[in-house]
Amino acid sequence: MRAVDLIRKKRDSGEHSRDEINFLISGYTRGEIPDYQMSAWLMATWIRGLSRAEIAALTEAMLHSGEVVSFPEIAGKKVDKHSTGGVGDKTSLILAPIVAAGGLHVPMISGRGLGHTGGTLDKLEAIPGFNTALTLADFRRVLGECGMALIGQTAEIAPADKKIYALRDVTSTVENVGLICASIMSKKLAEGIDALVLDVKTGSGAFIEKEEDAVRLAELMVETAQRMGKKAVALITDMDQPLGRLAGHSHEVIESLEVLKGRGAADLRDLSSELSAWMLYLGERTKSVDEGRELAQKLLASGEALEKFHRGIALQGGDARVVYDYSILPQAKNRAEVKSTTSGFLAATNCMEFGVALAMLGGGREKKEDKIDPGVGLEFHKRIGDRVSAGETLVTIFYNSDTKLAEATQRIQESFSITSQRPEPKKLIRRLVGA
Ligand code: URA
Repeated sequence: MRAVDLIRKKRDSGEHSRDEINFLISGYTRGEIPDYQMSAWLMATWIRGLSRAEIAALTEAMLHSGEVVSFPEIAGKKVDKHSTGGVGDKTSLILAPIVAAGGLHVPMISGRGLGHTGGTLDKLEAIPGFNTALTLADFRRVLGECGMALIGQTAEIAPADKKIYALRDVTSTVENVGLICASIMSKKLAEGIDALVLDVKTGSGAFIEKEEDAVRLAELMVETAQRMGKKAVALITDMDQPLGRLAGHSHEVIESLEVLKGRGAADLRDLSSELSAWMLYLGERTKSVDEGRELAQKLLASGEALEKFHRGIALQGGDARVVYDYSILPQAKNRAEVKSTTSGFLAATNCMEFGVALAMLGGGREKKEDKIDPGVGLEFHKRIGDRVSAGETLVTIFYNSDTKLAEATQRIQESFSITSQRPEPKKLIRRLVGA
């Protein structure tokens, strides 16, 4: 078999056999197929799509590219959550400590920034010293000691996703239902969990914009999890505007800590509580989702969730003083304001553009080798439905280099749609799949 023939086959709308997919994934993981051929195959796949059989084969090939771990030495249920990604989506930093404080174990394998979205690993690495590249032995130890451990794909666990994810980030090949399903499920099924909660984003800041496509992706992932004997549910949630008020790595660590302290933006608090409730329920810690919600509130109010995050940061080598002293996080030197030019109501945002603007300012990668600037960020002052006056600040930009500031500012400015009529409110949680 030759990679070049498989690229041509997909380019010409062919359907791959399981053997062909195994050849591509194992060859790329071992370094025998170069980035340029994988990039071409990804783009052909993005354009032509994958059948259900191809998606199943790809997910399994990527899952078995590394070890499928289990934790027989750790008693009790292991649960996790994964989001398809959005702007300001930082719930992993909030849920893991809540659910671990509730007595379950959260062995979380996350990703870096992808396309216009920020990644959990990059956010955690804003905390000085935080190590997201634990060895498997340390992953087990930290999980056993504090109930949560957050790492990235490694050479041992989901190595195919580690490489393909980084390539998709910089080749515009993210927004494809089959590639997203394989990427997410290959990591999640490798991490030894009993149950999984999926947060599938829909709207202008999501990879899958239309709600019906998001439902299709959710169904695919829930079915994949169930086929492998895991409990799973997916929440289809709104990404027509950023989640919370802050985007950018240091900023999102701060906003997560605020929620763990019982403060923070209402939408972020609500979604975090709902996702935690489902995790606690699927992990059989509570008898219902309602009870899960109450327990999550209790763990926040008592400070147990915050304490759990403090311990988790320290165990992964991070400077846990960050919990009480945000000044140890990298900060941007400058700020600029984006103001409204008209009056009315904020009717809609082109949310993806906020993520792109943030990436242009240094908060994302354009090439695989690029370093993230964790100090850059955006603060959103208005939510959809809010009244806006001409001259009012819509967004504060925190930046270091002004090389692309003008272009980023223009993108942000043009992403707001302000109308004379107040829009109908939109639900944060649109639907449930697999409940
Ligand atoms: N999250 C992932 O892990 N992979 C994707 O492809 C998209 C979101």
